[in-house]
Amino acid sequence: MARTIYDLIIKNGVVVNHDGEGRRDVGVSGGVIVEIAAEIPASAADETIECGGLHVLPGVIDSQVHFREPGPTHKEDLHTGSKAAVLGGVTAVFEMPNTNPLTVTADAIEDKLARAAGQVDHPGMYCDHAFYVGATHGNPKDLAELEQLPGVSGVKIFMGASTGDLLVEDDDGVREVLAHGRRRVAIHSEDEYLLREGKGRAIAGDWRSHPEARSVEAAVRCTDRLLRLARQTGRRIHVLHISTADEISMLAANKDIATCEILPQHLTLEAPDCYERLKGYAQMNPPIRDARHREGLWAAVRGGVFDVMGSDHAPHTKEEKEKPYPASPSGMPGVQTTVPLMLTHVAEGRLTLQRFIDLMCHGPQRTFGIANKGRLARGFDADFTIVDLKRAETITHAAQATRSGWTPFDGFRTKGWPVGTIIRGRRVMWDGELLGAPAGLPVRFQETVTG
Ligand code: DOR
Repeated sequence: MARTIYDLIIKNGVVVNHDGEGRRDVGVSGGVIVEIAAEIPASAADETIECGGLHVLPGVIDSQVHFREPGPTHKEDLHTGSKAAVLGGVTAVFEMPNTNPLTVTADAIEDKLARAAGQVDHPGMYCDHAFYVGATHGNPKDLAELEQLPGVSGVKIFMGASTGDLLVEDDDGVREVLAHGRRRVAIHSEDEYLLREGKGRAIAGDWRSHPEARSVEAAVRCTDRLLRLARQTGRRIHVLHISTADEISMLAANKDIATCEILPQHLTLEAPDCYERLKGYAQMNPPIRDARHREGLWAAVRGGVFDVMGSDHAPHTKEEKEKPYPASPSGMPGVQTTVPLMLTHVAEGRLTLQRFIDLMCHGPQRTFGIANKGRLARGFDADFTIVDLKRAETITHAAQATRSGWTPFDGFRTKGWPVGTIIRGRRVMWDGELLGAPAGLPVRFQETVTG
């Protein structure tokens, strides 16, 4: 028998990438894309995945998830969170440091990588992964070294308190963090001083007061302070989960130093409706706001201001979310629902498929300098999110793999669905079924690439 040239061919799909959109076959060898052509004969490979009628996208990267391990693993862990990711068509995630212990030391990073590799408690992660290091008032001098560790996506600052104990609220503290290290720093931008003042506006039992307690002004003032600090220190920043229309012009005026992120929740849900329907299940930080902000955020998606879309998957149990406001914790799961939600927005004409790929594949690659992912191109990892743009489904609580067992989008009817998740040439999910044992690996970055 003739020797095959490829390990795998992705056949007959519509490939969507830098080259546009068209019927292509993709040849994979050693987990890497080695050929993209109009036709590659099936006989040239050991395995063929038939994708007729489907669209083949670069692997979707979710650069903001909270998987809660170590610590509050009654909400989620790296295994269950990564299962939700691959069922939702996500091939890689960057995980946040507000775990317990906090991810603020080299030991904590090493521990997370060991857990992700299945060496502690469970069989490990299904998808590729990287971890953020949290900044504190105590660790700025260590950050330059910590951000260079393999498997680290960068440093994260909470300028406003949210779930967990991470907080660097003051200008001097943030300046000190930004002065140590070189990679782009990710920031939760809500002004802690205004959040403290705003607590008085929280109405017991009424989630509609959440966006008043955590005000537009708190977000705007913090982003304004942050942009000035970034410029003073000459440090690149990434402003996470923008929730207000009022920050957009500031962000657009600072594209040389600042990238920014949008979440599907802020584009899909709207106050006060979401709080009336979902109560505590709609509570997150920064909050879902009213129609004016949602429209402003969509305009910024179309205008190209946002670099990245993440899910901010932040699960809490139903019992926790049922507590009366403001005792209910902030955050909602999302890693499994981002792709179908956004494909529905594509189907309904709010953004193009190209812009979706720009936000969830090319965007993370550019923003974080991912070494070999985020593009469906020769030489990149063979990560693919395979979608059926016509498939109508209903998102349900029951289908969620998150340990928290719920989604704010229960009952949402989608147009478009992820049918396959392929990571480094391995089929990990097909038509809702997990295939094989967890085999996720750390993501590699251009600034810290080794070996
Ligand atoms: O709503 C949120 N939940 N916002 C955050 O910044 C943290 C997150 C969490 O970890 O629960």
